[in-house]
Amino acid sequence: MNATRKALAAGLAALSLLAVSACGSDNESGSTDEVEVFTWWAEGSEKAGLDALVKVFDEQNPDQKFVNGAVAGGAGSDAKNVLQSRLQNGEPPATFQAHAGAELTDYINAGQIEDLTDLYEEKGWNEQFPEGLLERLTQDGGIYSVPSNIHRANVLWANPAVLEKAGIEANKTYDSLDAWIADLKKIKAKGIIPLSIATDWTQVHLLETVLLADLGAEAYNGLWDGTTDWGGSEVEAALADYNTLLSLTNTDRQGLDWPDATQLVIDGEAAFNVMGDWAEAAFQEQKKTLGTDYTAVPVPGTEGVFDFLADSFTMPVDGPNPEGTEAWLDTIASDEGQVAFNKAKGSIPASTTADTADFGEYQQTAIKSWGEDEIVSSLAHGAATSVNWLTDVTAAVAKFGSNKDVAELQEGLVEAAEDNKPE
Ligand code: GAL
Repeated sequence: MNATRKALAAGLAALSLLAVSACGSDNESGSTDEVEVFTWWAEGSEKAGLDALVKVFDEQNPDQKFVNGAVAGGAGSDAKNVLQSRLQNGEPPATFQAHAGAELTDYINAGQIEDLTDLYEEKGWNEQFPEGLLERLTQDGGIYSVPSNIHRANVLWANPAVLEKAGIEANKTYDSLDAWIADLKKIKAKGIIPLSIATDWTQVHLLETVLLADLGAEAYNGLWDGTTDWGGSEVEAALADYNTLLSLTNTDRQGLDWPDATQLVIDGEAAFNVMGDWAEAAFQEQKKTLGTDYTAVPVPGTEGVFDFLADSFTMPVDGPNPEGTEAWLDTIASDEGQVAFNKAKGSIPASTTADTADFGEYQQTAIKSWGEDEIVSSLAHGAATSVNWLTDVTAAVAKFGSNKDVAELQEGLVEAAEDNKPE
């Protein structure tokens, strides 16, 4: 995070503390009927997803009042810092968004979130969510959050009209990065941005898909449990590809977030964007048609693999309104909540009981892939590593963005793994 963003995040932290103390008068039991929900879905299509969820929550809970605690910044790039200072100051929101998987370990180890295992029993959620997902949610023998959705990270979005201009067939599935890179170079020669990208976290997102493409699912999984060597030649080759790809992107990336990078494709200023399928919501919001206005295929070299992440919601320890938190979690798990939210968000329901018959065409492909493909965990979105590990990776990737030193990037990634890998 640069200095301006840091200052902004600190300012937002102070403001949200003020907001929390200013709102919600305590009733006799010491609780309040306000439910502050902390997310990073502050703007655009992400906010539309949250709004859809809130509508269901309001209908289901006339006695509870939703309070929006969102802090802007894709992938929680600013929200996570704000959240950390609030948790450390003993000012938790009623619930906060966190990724299912390793990201939860930091909050669990710090004793900041409740184990919801009993609640899962009581509500029948163990039967409702797929077993594989429950396994990914389980940390230290407990389940600490309720999933609202499943997103896919390894999606290549493209503008067919731009590809046509460059003489490249649209909707092509590339079986390797090399074939794709050759096309990207052709596009660059036409004076068009081949691949759009934005700030640091989106670069980590691209890097994770390059690692997945070059290493394959098994060796990629090994990066998180220590069986694949971050210092080895396979990773070195992947980093060389990442370097090449970065040289084929827009150069003004630091000032942009994911909606800007996706918008470059929507507007025909760039040919491709690698982004999670929250981008689908942006295309839909602008009434674009899959196959005509845009295409979505697996990132080259990752066909048959679903790079998974799920957003989920927690119950903070000593939260301000446990009853309200439980009401929010009920909405998250409900079929109405899962359907309304995921339709608007580009993701697919985590719950097996939600009816997806009238979901859009892209989402139908994601549902199919989720059912058939090999599932791996996303790095940039908290499924594969702790927050601290991701923070160290992001720092190394950000540095690489300016110095382009591949050897230093690899050393940084080796150190990040050594410092953070679970015992
Ligand atoms: C992810 C999150 C998605 C989406 C994305 C971009 O981390 O899981 O729901 O919000 O960030 O902000």
